[in-house]
Amino acid sequence: MSKPTSKVLVINDEPLILKDLLKGLNAAARTLDNPFGLTFVGALTAREGLQLIERDGDIQIVIVDDKLYAVQEGPRKAPPARNGSKESPRSLQVSALKLVQKITALRPELDIYILIEKEKEDQVVDALFAEAVDGYFYREERDYRGIYRILNAQIAERARTPFYDALRAYVLSAKDAWHTPGHSSGDSLRGSPWVDEFYEFMGEHVFDADLSVSVKALDSLMEPTGVIAEAQQMAANAFGARKTFFATNGTSTANKVILQTLIAPGEKLLLDRNCHKSVHHGVVLSGAQPIYLDSSVNRKYGVFGPVPKKTLLRAIEEHPDAQLLVLTSCTYDGLRYDLKPIIDAAHARNIKVLIDEAWFSHARFHPDLRPTALESGADYATQSAHKTLSAFSQAAFIHVNDPTFKEHLFRENFNMHTSTSPMYSMIASLDVSRKQMMMEGYKLLERTLMLAGELRQQINSTGAFRVLELEDLLPDEVKDDNIRLDPTKITVDISSCGMTVDELQAELFTRFNITIEKSTFNTITLLLTVGTTRSKCSRLYDALMRIAREKRAPRRLYRTPDLPPFTELVYLPRDAYYCGGELVPLLDENDQANASLAGRICADQIVPYPPGIPVLVPGQLITENIVEYLIRYLRVQNKVELHGVAYQGYFPSIRVLSAAEERRLSSLRELPRQKAA
Ligand SMILES: Cc1ncc(COP(=O)(O)O)c(C=O)c1O
Repeated sequence: MSKPTSKVLVINDEPLILKDLLKGLNAAARTLDNPFGLTFVGALTAREGLQLIERDGDIQIVIVDDKLYAVQEGPRKAPPARNGSKESPRSLQVSALKLVQKITALRPELDIYILIEKEKEDQVVDALFAEAVDGYFYREERDYRGIYRILNAQIAERARTPFYDALRAYVLSAKDAWHTPGHSSGDSLRGSPWVDEFYEFMGEHVFDADLSVSVKALDSLMEPTGVIAEAQQMAANAFGARKTFFATNGTSTANKVILQTLIAPGEKLLLDRNCHKSVHHGVVLSGAQPIYLDSSVNRKYGVFGPVPKKTLLRAIEEHPDAQLLVLTSCTYDGLRYDLKPIIDAAHARNIKVLIDEAWFSHARFHPDLRPTALESGADYATQSAHKTLSAFSQAAFIHVNDPTFKEHLFRENFNMHTSTSPMYSMIASLDVSRKQMMMEGYKLLERTLMLAGELRQQINSTGAFRVLELEDLLPDEVKDDNIRLDPTKITVDISSCGMTVDELQAELFTRFNITIEKSTFNTITLLLTVGTTRSKCSRLYDALMRIAREKRAPRRLYRTPDLPPFTELVYLPRDAYYCGGELVPLLDENDQANASLAGRICADQIVPYPPGIPVLVPGQLITENIVEYLIRYLRVQNKVELHGVAYQGYFPSIRVLSAAEERRLSSLRELPRQKAA
């Protein structure tokens, strides 16, 4: 196992003092127990310090001398510039306060200590009170061993994984289990002539770490007061939330929990129609009255983008009685909203904001990807830690910054959706993912972003494949909305490669063992994460280059039919969903669109997957156009799933309300019009 390296950067503008500090501290690091590989490095100017922080992902702690504070104000001789720049060295200095702010903006996960003079203690502490400063040392004391011990303990604290540590300790102490799960640490499988192979394949710790709520030492996800509570609080600190909750059924459940917590039946909700289906399920569960906002769409590539800012601002204006706004940022393709003005506008109307960051858990740990939703003011953010971090599938975070958070209500809803037998290794993986991002997230993301840059160039150099940049991906409607792109998602135009997207995917898989994240009719999307390696990038480049060199003649690509515009929500989705309804075939006896469906009301959510955007939601008016779209979809896209469609024998059908059910329900038509904004 490789040993960690942890650097402490000392910023002090007096070369002799800096030299002494580094000598004393490094001597302490060499002679005392040093499990985290602490070494001390120095910078003579704030700029040099910031450059090092940006360049060196091993820096964990920064010690800032508050002397820098004085340099701007008093006529003090500053050291010469070390980077050869012509700028006056004096102008490179900033106050300790500003420097702390800049460090925090760059890498909020770093610990910051201040070296102060005893006489100025109150003044300095007051000035830095509101900043994320972790402690102070007196410069004159020169207590190097004392400073080293404190910093070592600080790193130990950040590197702790309370839940995983307890789980591991419990497993290694090998208790006799008289409780669930039934495999009893794998005893039921081990040695079996029939199923031992499964045990061997999965590995012993998969089984002996699979425990139950009966193990009190491991706390309870339903009512955490011990190691889970501690691990969640550490995650909250890491991600900049007031509170963080571990969810063990993905962002899918996280979204449903929040919708059910915040919205009472009949209350209004503004949501991107393109939100993940879990948000739409949350609408059914909560009984919300949804106001659907149409996302922008790039028809050339079949890519859905953000909701235009003007649509959002208008909807907020028109529905000040809404309780919640839900948006996805970044999208599956990496498009990120400029969230702050939108969230500010929602808050001005007392509308809470939930941002689905399923694809963006990593953003907090690199300045190129920030601001995160929470940093932009969101009340809630849900993140699939399993999508872009090192957590197991289904592991997700719910981050809360809502100043009026009703924890009891949230807890009731959380517990409603959470299994009473959560998988403990999944909880441990959330704890460990948080630790990893705190300790090496910046370094890993630096690498990922660099690899993404290189891979983009390599793909473009093939001639047959072209990476779509922000300008290519952005739908026209959002060109002026300050949308940005998460470069770790790479969408590639494949239309010149001479294969259909299905052929290309099959070729990549069967010939090169490569599986990609997703596709549209003329693009593929690759996902780079903290786990992406250079050799994996090289293998992809090699595969694409080989395919390109085979110079196939261009193929005709059949576009996915365009999603029909939203029609009308006639009944609350919950009311429609809970009707028994009746199944009506999409096709008539002549194999044509069943005209009798037009004018009926859908009882289910009908979602082509991918992309996962509902064509129909419960309570929505069906039109001929929609039936034709669904049929075309089934015919052209025979490989995609069409969730919500039921088969009666070979006949695809959808569940619609019966006439009697429609008469019984109260229609939204009696309220002000509920069309998509
Ligand atoms: C935008 C969005 N939100 C939520 C989810 C659901 O996340 P999970 O798979 O963690 O349940 C997905 C899944 O793809 C998604 O794309």
